Amino acid sequence: MSNDTTKKKLKLKVSAIKEGTVIDHIPAQNLFKVITILGLDKIENQITFGTNLESQKLGSKAIIKVSDKFFENDEINKIALIAPDAKLNIIRDYEVVEKKIVKAPEIIKGIVKCFNPKCITNNEKVTTCFKVLSTSPVTLRCRYCEKMTIGEQMRML
Ligand code: CTP
Ligand code: ZN
Repeated sequence: MSNDTTKKKLKLKVSAIKEGTVIDHIPAQNLFKVITILGLDKIENQITFGTNLESQKLGSKAIIKVSDKFFENDEINKIALIAPDAKLNIIRDYEVVEKKIVKAPEIIKGIVKCFNPKCITNNEKVTTCFKVLSTSPVTLRCRYCEKMTIGEQMRML
């Protein structure tokens, strides 16, 4: 099979959409976290996804296609911590009209837990808030206890 045929076949694994957003290059293990963070489990739009697809860069990637949904930058940037290489494709009338990458926000509210068990956010009803110091590895400094949450230590709320 020629390279082009292989490429086409891979793409066809999840059918094309007419209008909406295709989020590509999500690490397969973070697919469901991305779904939760974007609140895709709470909307009525048509959503298709594929996971454990081959990717040269990620080894194994996932892709999500959300029909009739166009995200605000603030909204989509929330996934930067768990899908730093995510690529957004904006689809209008079956054509890719724009491509975007995600950018980690400087401050991240909610979404992740502070790694410090003694932190007030783990003991009282206080929403977490971190300054994002780095994205690879993810390094977050808690606004309340100043402790760092790094890489694998990061857990979703
Ligand atoms: N796509 C889609 N529906 C469309 C058009 C595109 O679901 N109507 C999806 C494609 O399947 C692909 C992504 O949107 O996963 C990007 O499309 P395209 O830019 O055509 O693909 P590539 O050139 O492979 O893009 P890249 O290399 O940037 O990933
Ligand atoms: Zn803390």
